[in-house]
Amino acid sequence: MEVIIQPNQEAAAELVARVVARDLRANPHLVLGLATGRTMERVYRLLVQMHREQKLDFSLCATFNLDEYVGLSASDPNSYRHYMDHHLFRHVNIDQRNTHLPNGMAKDLDKECQAYEKAIARFGGIDMQVLGIGKAGHIGFNEPLSALRSRTRVKALTPLTLEQNAAMFGGLEKVPRRAITMGVGTILESRRCILLATGEDKADIVAKAIEGPITGMVSATALQLHPHCTVVVDGAAATRLTEIEYYRWIFENEPEWEFFRAVSPSVAED
Ligand code: F6R
Repeated sequence: MEVIIQPNQEAAAELVARVVARDLRANPHLVLGLATGRTMERVYRLLVQMHREQKLDFSLCATFNLDEYVGLSASDPNSYRHYMDHHLFRHVNIDQRNTHLPNGMAKDLDKECQAYEKAIARFGGIDMQVLGIGKAGHIGFNEPLSALRSRTRVKALTPLTLEQNAAMFGGLEKVPRRAITMGVGTILESRRCILLATGEDKADIVAKAIEGPITGMVSATALQLHPHCTVVVDGAAATRLTEIEYYRWIFENEPEWEFFRAVSPSVAED
């Protein structure tokens, strides 16, 4: 695992967007795993900007989102399909037929989960998985005690997750209680993954995920098993990490990050 600390939220999101853009330029057929949530909104805004200003081309790539609520249709404003259309798909030249999210309205949810795994395999697996992290350490909707080898399945959401999402639904009682999510095992099979976490309310869980012991209670700790995982945080989310100096040294010195060290003028300091 590599940890990159950026000065602020914008710079952290910009780094993630630039890594995705670099991989997409290198491989126009990239299979991208995507996440939703507030943290990702900045990343998608920057990717849309790169599409408009630098002709970043999405026409040949395919996407697989991590999760979708059970019982919400694609047209529901709170569905993750709607989120993706709103924040990314509608604004870039992606072929909608190559965008995939689990169908939360499927009659047979188990069959839908198996079909989702098969679709990922048919596309040759996920090249680059983008991730956020919940306050209890979930990636996707892999809530505490998710098996580290779990596959796409239906998962009941914890009270903390329901609470975190309540505002978007206009009340706790309106948040769906279950979601379809890629499993931890599915995520670990991606060739590369990049997790973005920003803000001081993520500092505790970021420290547990990166420097704590691997445990099913915090599914993000499973990323320590991934052969090529980068965690990008801003200064606020990094405050509880113990090896900050080491992480900073890596970004400043390792050749892999040379291209990304120059901060673009669009990124303002906090
Ligand atoms: C959603 C997802 C979740 C979020 C996480 C963080 O597709 O995968 O794991 O990434 O809940 O959400 P925010 O960014 O809203 O704090």
